[in-house]
Amino acid sequence: MDAAAWHYPVLLAESLEYLAIRPDGIYLDATAGLGGHSAAIAQRLQTGFVIACDRDAESLELAGKNTAPWSERIRFHRGAFSSLPQALERNGVERIDGVLADLGVSRYQLSAAERGFSLMEDGPLDMRMDRGQGLTAADLVNHLSEKELADLIFGLGEERRSRRISRAIVRARPILTTGRLARVIEEAVPRTGRIHPATQTFMALRLRVNEEFEELEQLLRLVPERLRSGGRFVVLTFMSTEDRIVKRAFQSLAREGRATILTKHVIRPAEQEVLENPASRSAKLRALVMN
Ligand SMILES: C[S@@+](CC[C@H](N)C(=O)[O-])C[C@H]1O[C@@H](n2cnc3c(N)ncnc32)[C@H](O)[C@@H]1O
Repeated sequence: MDAAAWHYPVLLAESLEYLAIRPDGIYLDATAGLGGHSAAIAQRLQTGFVIACDRDAESLELAGKNTAPWSERIRFHRGAFSSLPQALERNGVERIDGVLADLGVSRYQLSAAERGFSLMEDGPLDMRMDRGQGLTAADLVNHLSEKELADLIFGLGEERRSRRISRAIVRARPILTTGRLARVIEEAVPRTGRIHPATQTFMALRLRVNEEFEELEQLLRLVPERLRSGGRFVVLTFMSTEDRIVKRAFQSLAREGRATILTKHVIRPAEQEVLENPASRSAKLRALVMN
């Protein structure tokens, strides 16, 4: 993978500003990925530490290498958001000062063909962030009924042509690679504009394989229980559905008087960041502080 890629953590300056890092604080980076944000947090700590979590073992290994100069201030935990209580318990932590979640997949996951996330790289239809889990994209594509597939592609991918796509998939089964799935979809539905016609189907499969919305709901429930008063929660999203889930959860915490929202309007990357890192263009940041 591109050795420079990890140097582009999205909305980095803004994330750090909203985390308002205390040198003696305990932080949780719920999505360590390649370690970009974790390294930046660690650099600002003197006696505190950051627990860098990811459900992807390979990403955590890369994060470990990338953050080696600050290893004294970083502890790693492999697990999904739902394992957050264990991450804290293993590190003897009751309350945390700040949590960052930079949702979705990393550049490493997208660019590694064998992980099967990308439409552009031919690889096995996998899409698991945690390669230890059972269900893969190939299982869904080859074993769901035509109706179940159409419902999935429509529901999670917001793809209006879901029925036509699922019919074509069922006729072409077995489909074992990302390249073949992309071609089957491209033949079934015409390309409109610049976006590949399989984009939303790939998104739907990825969201389902990794249960991303369910995981996000867990994170939004667990984090406020463990943040201390004055603790910060910063979430970066790349999809409008995810941003809506975060916005609603934050609003409900504010209504209950448990937290104060710090971002009245969502924060977007500056033009310069989008120029340097086009992958940041759809990013949105929301932050809150616990009362
Ligand atoms: C956008 S990347 C994070 C990049 C990172 N901030 C950096 O600077 O390199 C998102 C990461 O979160 C992980 N992830 C996504 N959902 C997760 C979940 N529910 N539990 C744990 N990790 C998750 C993915 O495996 C991926 O490595």
